Amino acid sequence: MKTDSFDHILIETPEDGIVTLTINRPDKLNALNSTVLNELEQAISSFEKSRDFGVMIITGAGEKAFVAGADIKELSALDRTRGEKASARGQHIFSLIENSSKPIIAVVNGYALGGGAELAMACHLRYASEKALIGLPEVTLGIIPGYGGTQRLPLLVGKANALEMILTGQPVKAEKAEAIGLVNKVLPANEVMDQAKKTASKILNNGPLALSKAIQAVNSATADGNFAKEAALFGQLCDSDDFKEGTSAFLEKRKAEFRGN
Ligand code: COA
Repeated sequence: MKTDSFDHILIETPEDGIVTLTINRPDKLNALNSTVLNELEQAISSFEKSRDFGVMIITGAGEKAFVAGADIKELSALDRTRGEKASARGQHIFSLIENSSKPIIAVVNGYALGGGAELAMACHLRYASEKALIGLPEVTLGIIPGYGGTQRLPLLVGKANALEMILTGQPVKAEKAEAIGLVNKVLPANEVMDQAKKTASKILNNGPLALSKAIQAVNSATADGNFAKEAALFGQLCDSDDFKEGTSAFLEKRKAEFRGN
């Protein structure tokens, strides 16, 4: 398995069959810029091919964040065509995770916002620290979730909870995330990685072929998401004044004033 030469991803490969991938851009709360996304794709492909590792754990570097979303500076430069492409690219990488033949567990150690929540949702299991905050704040920027969030969230939490989160843009605390089925379990911050490793070890006792078919079978029950529609709508919004205002306001650290254009 490829373990080095990444700028923003750390890979740990102890000899227990579990690989830990840490998104490592803590000064920007591990936001997903194109380098992070490219490296994530390479690491997932390498894990898929590896014979030595049966489970991957994904987490974020630092005390504060799992991943605080797609990189808003990069987003702010998108227009309709590039926006639709960027959305499809994120969807593709997260689908590699969801359709991995080997289980991938998210350890949500802090903010999981926008693309961060979507990354966690693409994983097969999610364990959250008590201080995790999970949400899809895209509408506060004048866009919608574009990395599969509009399709995966309703499957996990039901349409009403999903719409409440997506339309308000407000994150939910870990406890509520567990209550609505968004995460499997909440644990104290210093126990959450151990819990993920315990679960990973249990999984590793089982037949790899059966695990792979189990993922395929469960995914086939929930695979009808209309990702192309999400990407097209995301792209449309990238041409709007509201999107320019929302992303500029974030970067200028002020409140956005939307006009509905
Ligand atoms: N993209 C790019 N940069 C981001 C980012 C993102 N999604 N999230 C955080 N950052 C950067 C900030 O701009 C800041 O950079 P700076 O130090 O160069 O100014 C740094 O990370 C720390 O973030 P800051 O906002 O100062 O931390 P905070 O504790 O005050 O607030 C959050 C934390 C998570 C509430 C806030 O960073 C936030 O709202 N982030 C954006 C979340 C979002 O909308 N994600 C969806 C994107 S589609």
